[in-house]
Amino acid sequence: MITRADGIYVYDGKGRQYIDGHGGLWLANVGYGRREIIDAIAQQAEALAWFPSFGGFANAPSMKLAERLIELLKPDGMAHVMFSNDGSEAVETALKIARQYWKVKGQANKHKYITRRHAYHGVTMGALSVQGVTANRMEFEPLLPGVVHVPAPYTHHCTMHPDSPVCTFACARLVEEAILTQGPDTVAAFIAEPVQAAGGVIIPPPDYLRQVRDICRRHNVLFIADEVVTGFGRLGSWFGSRHYGIQPDIMTMAKGITSGYVPLGATAVSDAVFEAFLETPESGPEFRHGNTYSGHPIAAAAALANIDILERERLPEHTREMGPVLRQALQGVQERHPDWVVDANAVGLLGRLELSDPGGKRPAGELGAAVAQNMYELGVIVRPLGDIVTFSPPLIISEQQIGQMVAVAEEALTLAKSSQA
Ligand SMILES: Cc1ncc(COP(=O)(O)O)c(C=O)c1O
Repeated sequence: MITRADGIYVYDGKGRQYIDGHGGLWLANVGYGRREIIDAIAQQAEALAWFPSFGGFANAPSMKLAERLIELLKPDGMAHVMFSNDGSEAVETALKIARQYWKVKGQANKHKYITRRHAYHGVTMGALSVQGVTANRMEFEPLLPGVVHVPAPYTHHCTMHPDSPVCTFACARLVEEAILTQGPDTVAAFIAEPVQAAGGVIIPPPDYLRQVRDICRRHNVLFIADEVVTGFGRLGSWFGSRHYGIQPDIMTMAKGITSGYVPLGATAVSDAVFEAFLETPESGPEFRHGNTYSGHPIAAAAALANIDILERERLPEHTREMGPVLRQALQGVQERHPDWVVDANAVGLLGRLELSDPGGKRPAGELGAAVAQNMYELGVIVRPLGDIVTFSPPLIISEQQIGQMVAVAEEALTLAKSSQA
């Protein structure tokens, strides 16, 4: 039971301190206990806790946040934004925008989605349908029809040419093949997390997303960037799309938008997508979608204060500097335990340590769970995804604290190794 938190630390009911090596659940970007966010929430609750954004009404913080986001997202080609409550709803909104976009463009048959294996996009039926984590989907099938999964750009688990150390971007070409096989006139959108977080921090080769972006453009397929984890500085740029040099058509955000102080989701679109809805009034330009709490003033106030901190403290830039520190520290663990660490990598403050028992005696996932449990006992919380231990600390973490966190990971691995012997 976690009862309080401050900076990069969380505390349990007995007062034990832990480094939050996972930012709770890939967020807590500005850290815990930030007075200015707390005050912004309290002041907004006092002035106007909530009123609907339906029926012609609006509230000042959500309007201000929309303007702020649009300014922030200009380099990424986004020009309009709609609010929801979390990442799943932001994805749901994006999927529905993509469907209606093609209807208003007179191409109603473009309704399918291309997604990737290991993708995580949320738990609602649409978002779940485009998930690539099979175990999450199975109990709820049949899901949305017309969803096609292609391989992830999983460099060291490459199924296309497993024996070659040189990437040929075969997985990018498979996106094109999937579009052509389905028929470009039936495909509405491709959806991708710039780095696949919950699938195991799958970091693509640098040019992969640019190649897929071009393929989508060539075949008139909308590109949805799911930035729920990668937005707001996580990779060392404001957004993952910017980090990889692409401009999507639609972008989803949540988590780091408020650093978790209050739930909030957002979906942004380019001018071209927005304007399509204005082109044909007879086909119903309205996007009939929204939630009771869309544009919640308290969430918007929290997000504005959160963005102030990210900007003022230059946390995306700090993350860019800390990225190599985390990567090198993790790679140091791999060098010292080459038989037990299959891969160590990080982009910005999103890292992975993939483990494998060289004796092959433990069932899949047991080593990862043991290391995470040892780390917890040593005072660092991380998230094991099978045998991949994932790192996503608050972006305020210092070089020295990164060293401390990774030293605990190494000690936890050493303990797990000896417990097996
Ligand atoms: C990339 C991505 N998209 C969407 C979601 C769903 O967000 P939420 O859990 O806020 O609904 C997540 C959650 O982890 C995510 O990682």
